[in-house]
Amino acid sequence: MNSEARKSIHGTWTGRWTFILAAAGSAVGLGNIWKFPYMAGEYGGGAFVLVYLACILLIGIPIMIAEILIGRRGRSSPANSMSYLAKEANTYPQWKILGIMGAVAGLAILSFYSVAAGWAISYIFEDFSGPSAEYYGEEFNAFLADGTKLVIFHSIFIFVTVFIVARGVIKGLEVWINRLMPLLFIIVLLLCAYATQTGAFFEGVSYLFTPDFSKIDATVILAALGQAFFTLSLGMGAIMAYGAYMPANQKIGSTALSVAFLDTLVAILAGIAIFPIVFANNLEAAAGPGLVFVTLPWAFVNMPLGLIFGKLFFVLLSIAALSSAISLLEPGVAWVVESLKTKRYVAAAALGLIAWTLGILSALSFNLLSDFTPIGDRNFFDSMDFLSNQILLPLGGIFIAIFVGWIMKRENVLEELEIKEGWVLKVWYFLLKFLSPVLVGVVFVAAVFFGVT
Ligand code: PFF
Repeated sequence: MNSEARKSIHGTWTGRWTFILAAAGSAVGLGNIWKFPYMAGEYGGGAFVLVYLACILLIGIPIMIAEILIGRRGRSSPANSMSYLAKEANTYPQWKILGIMGAVAGLAILSFYSVAAGWAISYIFEDFSGPSAEYYGEEFNAFLADGTKLVIFHSIFIFVTVFIVARGVIKGLEVWINRLMPLLFIIVLLLCAYATQTGAFFEGVSYLFTPDFSKIDATVILAALGQAFFTLSLGMGAIMAYGAYMPANQKIGSTALSVAFLDTLVAILAGIAIFPIVFANNLEAAAGPGLVFVTLPWAFVNMPLGLIFGKLFFVLLSIAALSSAISLLEPGVAWVVESLKTKRYVAAAALGLIAWTLGILSALSFNLLSDFTPIGDRNFFDSMDFLSNQILLPLGGIFIAIFVGWIMKRENVLEELEIKEGWVLKVWYFLLKFLSPVLVGVVFVAAVFFGVT
């Protein structure tokens, strides 16, 4: 049976654009504006960006197509879509575990994502009148030292996420978030315009785009790969869950391309906005997670109407984070609702509670629990980030690629993609069947052998 005849019990997006906007809402978030610039700074600028772009193109986009395809054909939560498709392909029902693992990874990500989103919320109350960029560095550190404040903002963020997911993603999302994303895009453009005035525009841009090949090693590749999965919301079923609500007459391939393009554009623009400010003010490019919160407030101090733009920017960033967080919770909630037949709000509250509790450990990892380093010398926040993004998402991605590339019947894949045999299909199959699993596998092994730092 194709997806025309089956519908998700959770509803269907009303229009062709809604899926693109919802998936872009999931993809565009803190990963683009907060994480991409600081990772680029930490892992050597252009070298990281180059590997990141290659990962998006060669691994991210093919896997995004595979995820949407599974979701739309399965028309249920990722776990149950996997089960349905495993049955259709006459293979092991255990493939369902992939969906369950995804839901677990979603909660793990949500727990620290929400802490970082709390930072964005707190900056809405900033008055953007500090005397220097360093001042904002000190202010951010003082903020991190205040565990209570971090926990409060984290709690607010989780609460709103749970509230929207409890109402139903389709009702919750379609109504207002989609209208606000274009606005965020405009402010990022405005920040790029400001960056041209800093006196270090070319320095910043060439840092981002001139690769120093000697800096590319297994650690950088693994980080870029993880970031590609994270930024496109891949490897854990978020896009799969949204695919289940996608109208049957929408083309999957071009949709995935649009989402990936929008997402990459926002990340690159954020980098173009931030690095000139870094260099103009002699800040540390490798400053880590605080980078955006140090550079951008200083840009708003100096920009005409900075107070208004600053507040608007952090409001929109919080909303972008919210539309991503919703997609982190949705796969698990949809699965619990389908399997336990509970009410949506009960499932959302229960899973939200788990993410909230874990998130408290993340919030306290910058202060009270800073000596607690579960993975290497990473605190709890960084450990959750590392575990989910650099291990769970790529691993989930490999299995999704293997399932669609090797296990699903070709005719079913063709039917769902509405595509005929030809070179496009050949390239996609090659990337999915061979390149993604082999490349991700090699990077993993290399990273384990050469020690990821
Ligand atoms: N893609 C989101 C971002 O870049 O902020 C984060 C994210 C959402 C990751 C959903 C994974 C996911 F499943």
